[in-house]
Amino acid sequence: MTHPAIEVPTLIAHRGYSAAAPENTLTAVRAAHQAGARWVELDVQLLGDGMPVIWHDSDVSRCSDGRGELASMTWRQAQALDVGSWFGDRFARERMANLEAMLALLNELEMGVNLEIKVNKGRDPITLVDAVLPMLLAALPAERCIVSSFDGAALAHSRRHAPREALALGALYGSLPKQWRAQCAAIEAFSIHPHWPRLKRTQAAAMRRDGYQILCYTANDPSAFQSRWAWGINSAITDEPAAFQRYLDNRKEG
Ligand code: G3P
Ligand code: MG
Repeated sequence: MTHPAIEVPTLIAHRGYSAAAPENTLTAVRAAHQAGARWVELDVQLLGDGMPVIWHDSDVSRCSDGRGELASMTWRQAQALDVGSWFGDRFARERMANLEAMLALLNELEMGVNLEIKVNKGRDPITLVDAVLPMLLAALPAERCIVSSFDGAALAHSRRHAPREALALGALYGSLPKQWRAQCAAIEAFSIHPHWPRLKRTQAAAMRRDGYQILCYTANDPSAFQSRWAWGINSAITDEPAAFQRYLDNRKEG
């Protein structure tokens, strides 16, 4: 057996359709679906009481009407936050999504997810992975799921939860370290997720030769990104899936 038979999508909506709705919310995922996206990228981490939630930052100040670190918050406290108004009045009263609710929505919409295990400073990757992976593996078929992380320990521990035929793992990189090959081989990675402006053509070629899928983040200017498709990039993770798709459709017609 090799990896799960994932049809890697050309576009993945970053934190849901985060240009159109508050990031990492159920509404952002519905918006991505409505805009035609088949996959979303979402960040997962734990509250202080161990509840896995869909959230990017280590605290709630940027994306809610409250303050405080996730690490010292309970689910009950988190549910009191308005996580929509910061983005726009019409999103008022949006609530933080926990992993369970998000997985249910992804199944309802039959969407795929690139779930990023977000290990913020001072947080424990092992506890996070142990909370997330069993839920994820039980909820979604392997064909609709890629688990990624910048954190090597989180990826290595995720692999302990499932063999490569049952779980696609993606290594996230800002700038590519010299040891990327050994790191990706050690976790039997399915994909590499580089920061697209820093990826070099020769590096992309080496990744393709080694058999990895390449999912670039975060690409919001489709014309600036255009030349990268010829490098063998499989997917652009974007805040703007609708505009990106329109651009690609126009190029095809033109
Ligand atoms: O997974 C791609 C991208 O989300 C990684 O960076 O900070 O947006 O989570 P960040
Ligand atoms: Mg992310």
